[in-house]
Parts: sequence; C-alpha cells; structure tokens
Amino acid sequence: ATTLGAAAAQSGRYYGTAVAAGKLGDSTYVNILNTEFNMVTAENEMKWDATEPNRGQFTYSSGDRILNQAVSNGKRVRGHALLWHQQEPGWAQRMEGSDLRQAMLNHVTQVATHYRGKIYAWDVVNEAFADGGSGGRRDSNLQRTGNDWIEAAFRAARAADPAAKLCYNDYNTDGINAKSTGVYNMVRDFKSRGVPIDCVGFQAHLTNNAPSDMRANLQRFADLGVDVQITELDIAGANQANAYAAVTKACLAVTRCTGITVWGIRDTDSWRRGENPLLFTGSGAKKPAYNAVLDAL
Ligand code: XIL
Repeated sequence: ATTLGAAAAQSGRYYGTAVAAGKLGDSTYVNILNTEFNMVTAENEMKWDATEPNRGQFTYSSGDRILNQAVSNGKRVRGHALLWHQQEPGWAQRMEGSDLRQAMLNHVTQVATHYRGKIYAWDVVNEAFADGGSGGRRDSNLQRTGNDWIEAAFRAARAADPAAKLCYNDYNTDGINAKSTGVYNMVRDFKSRGVPIDCVGFQAHLTNNAPSDMRANLQRFADLGVDVQITELDIAGANQANAYAAVTKACLAVTRCTGITVWGIRDTDSWRRGENPLLFTGSGAKKPAYNAVLDAL
C-alpha cells in the first residue's frame, strides 16, 4: 500500500489524524488529509467549550464541518471529547456539586445525541487520572461531584448513542506505570460491574522513544475485553522515525489495537509545532518518520 490509511487497512486497522475546521480551506492540508487518512478526530471543535459555550446553548457548526468533510470523503470519525477538565466553558468552570453534575451529564447526552450513529468511538472522559505515583484520580470540579462521575458519563453516553464505542482516553499511560495501572484498575472494575466501556485511548504524546513496555501495556488492557487505540500520537526528538516505527509495531502486535491517530498533519499544524513532531513538513513533504510508519504498517 502507498498511503497510511490503505496500509493500516491491510490488517483491518485505521490510520487517522486530528483535523482543525479552520484548515479545511487549505488545499495542501486537505489533499494530504484525503489521500493518507481514513479516520478523523476534531482537534478542538467537539470539546465542551466549543459545543456548549453557554449553558444549554449548543453550537455544532465547526464539529459538523469536520464530520461532514470526513464522511463525504469516506472517512470515519472519533468523537473527542465529551468531558475533560480542560477546555470547559467558563460557565461550567464556575460550577460545582449537583448543579455541575446535572450540567455535565446533560452535556454528554446532548452532544452524543446530536452525533448519534455517526461516531465510531467517543472519548467519553479525557485525562481524569493524576500524574505521578498515586494511581488515583486528578482533582477537578468534575471529580469533586463524586468518584462515580466517570461511570455516570459512560452510562449517559451509551443511552444517547448505543452504536458508538465508548472510550476512556489519557496521556502518560502508554507504558506500564502507576497512572496506567490506575486506569487499568478502573476499566477492570467497570467491566466487572457492567459499566459500558468499549475502548481505551492512549494519547502517546512522546519524545524520542515509545515506552519499551508499550505493547505489553496495550495487551493487558485488551485482555480486559476492550479495544485499544493510539489516539493523539506525536513524537519529538532526533529518534523520531524509529520511535514512530516502534509505536506502529506495538499496535500491530495487539489484535485489539484497532487503529492509530496522529495529532495533526504537518509540523506547522501541531500543538507542539516547535518540536516538529508529525509525519509531514510544514510544506507538506513526507518526513523519514512517514516512511518508517508506512514500512511498519
Ligand atoms: C490540544 C489541541 O491540539 C490544541 O489546539 C488546543 O489548544 C489544546 O488542546 N490532550 C488532548 C487534546 O486530549 O485535546 C489536546 O489538544 C492535546 C492534549
């Protein structure tokens, strides 16, 4: 195969990218998007601040543009993200307790209902675990509504869009460590109690290397009975091409690793643009990392 999407499809997987609605008029960008990728994630346009800027007032125009561009070009869409402690609208940042609980579950219900039947997988909850050695939840106004906020969100998402796979998504969980083990224990608990969860996303914002135990980490989650996906891949540093190959191989070695998404197209599109962490140069040329991925798929 000669494109990332076609190469990934050889093993039944997808290869995706984050897309920004504001770049859909850039012909170089759209040309690479349409040629190389068969899955799309809205980089910001489906987040809480974008979709519900005022309480109860929903705006889907930018998210819909991305979804419609993707679908009309034969791509699928990952929904990102229903609940996250960052990019909350100001009104939600100022809320707490049962009011916030009601508002956040309504948000999940409304957004998942708007996109019902059109989303391959939703990141229902993003980045709810703490960094460091605790293995516990991160403090946030969402967490302070009660430890069961995550399962309540998953149940609301399932009710609103029964066809979408429901994912938990986080960073620094790519290898086996205290944080990923905390997520692992939550997923195991959810599966044992019948809380609806179908997949775990590993952001994989990396520098120079993939964790040496990345495959083993993906496999232990898969063994719980969930799909796993690399959801926001970007890799800085001089060992970039090798590290991209290693992440690709880690996913391919795990049957339930269903696909990989890079977090942008050209280095200049990246939220880490100073680190040039993506597969295409600012002018749209394929980098050595691109060839390393294509060879590994
Ligand atoms: C980033 C976007 O790329 C930026 O444009 C935005 O300013 C901040 O968010 N983890 C996530 C993504 O789950 O939503 C973040 O995306 C990157 C870190």
